[in-house]
Amino acid sequence: MRQSSLVVVANRLPVDDSVAPDGACEWRRSPGGLVGALHPILQHTPATWVGWAGDAGPAPTLPDIDGVRMHTVALSAEDIRDHYEGFANATLWPLYHDSVEHPSFHRRWWEAYHRVNQRFAAAAAEAAEPGALVWVQDYHLQLVPGMLRALRPDLLIGFFLHVPFPPPELFMQLPRRAELLLGMLGADLVGFQRVQAAHNFAQLAAKVLKVPATDRRIAVEGRVVRIGAFPVSIDMAEMEALASRPSVAARARQLRTDLGDPRRVVLSVDRMDYTKGIEHRLKAYSELIEGGHIKVHDTVLVQVAVPSRERVAQYQILRDRVEREVGRINGEFGRVGEPAIHYLNQPFDRAELAALYRVADIMAVTPLRDGMNLVAKEYIAARVDDTGALVLSEFAGAAAEFPQAYLVNPHDLDGLKLTLLHALDASPEDVTDRMRGMRAHLRVHDIRAWARAYLTALDRTGTLAARLA
Ligand code: UDP
Ligand code: G6P
Repeated sequence: MRQSSLVVVANRLPVDDSVAPDGACEWRRSPGGLVGALHPILQHTPATWVGWAGDAGPAPTLPDIDGVRMHTVALSAEDIRDHYEGFANATLWPLYHDSVEHPSFHRRWWEAYHRVNQRFAAAAAEAAEPGALVWVQDYHLQLVPGMLRALRPDLLIGFFLHVPFPPPELFMQLPRRAELLLGMLGADLVGFQRVQAAHNFAQLAAKVLKVPATDRRIAVEGRVVRIGAFPVSIDMAEMEALASRPSVAARARQLRTDLGDPRRVVLSVDRMDYTKGIEHRLKAYSELIEGGHIKVHDTVLVQVAVPSRERVAQYQILRDRVEREVGRINGEFGRVGEPAIHYLNQPFDRAELAALYRVADIMAVTPLRDGMNLVAKEYIAARVDDTGALVLSEFAGAAAEFPQAYLVNPHDLDGLKLTLLHALDASPEDVTDRMRGMRAHLRVHDIRAWARAYLTALDRTGTLAARLA
């Protein structure tokens, strides 16, 4: 067994097992922002990625991907049901996103969460060379830092939470709250997207564990754990290069023609998830058409809603509701060859996404709660000519970085309608001013700056940060 000096541990590997149209097995990039953020910084570093390949059964052997070794963790159908679909995505995910859907608590789910975390910790311990850095990611694996420290006290352990960390009144509902906090505190540095999240965590540590805690340091079990905010980002240069390709520009022109050459294209790209505010957005859009503010031959909405967590009941219910609403809106307001909404329930590759970002005059990113939202940052990166209006929810982590966006409270339907109209009718000068400001910020705060900031905080000698691309 080869061991690495840098080990990333995430529930998912950066590739996902999927079936090609001819029935053969093929590997494609896994869904979601976590993979999108980590993949570019790890490329061509001698690292190992410990994760699950997306299917039940024995762990497949994968080749290295872009020079990174894949260490697969096997999950049974029961593990997937109770750990991934259960405790991770029907307890923690809704609870951490303001309980916009009701979180469920089941003791069997907790047992699976504990068991699967133990398996990831053992895999990480096996993959890490003496004194290595192990960087544990996200809410599926909150117990791993503590378990890993017990197995391998020689390691430097980081933990980063990609999703929001909730206020005490929500977190206190969790039956196993002390264990979850102690699990995270097994790390040397616990990173969050926002300062408020670090504050919530410190308050909870003091309240639940009765340990000395500030928003920067927590003293526990004879150690000092550092905490802080490190807003995650994207590879701006990569998205700019992709969006600038002649083939992508040509594809964007073709898309506009295919959409019927409307004056304005509004785009949304989300996983089909109840945190993304898709239903609120559709309602606002339909009322704008109904009120005569939008004409369907003049303005079209393209809604990409990528299938996600489809075996979890709340996701199935959401998909049914969204599809019924899209059908209603198109039935009521569309014309032959002119639907009001172009709805796409399928994943797209990076080049097609870049073409969509280029064709979108307005990007509507209106989640009810989101740790960061990398789609918003990708849109900014793709607008190489400084055009394009970003309508952005105040409840996305990205809002803290982009005051120049058309910010909105997506719960306020009238406010959402007004903000969409404001963006639709904004002068080209206003749009360009805002976009320039956002692009300048993103250029400095890209994914490499994120990795550098986190790794320098973890290892003050700076040697780890210097090793990354
Ligand atoms: N994405 C993709 N194909 C799609 C739709 C989305 O590759 O068809 C990617 C998108 O480029 C982004 C990520 O999925 O990098 C979504 O990240 P975000 O932070 O916006 O939301 P999350 O899905 O992590 O909640
Ligand atoms: C969010 C989470 C990630 C997760 C991704 C996709 O970005 O923070 O941890 O991987 O969504 O969700 P999935 O359930 O398909 O892994």
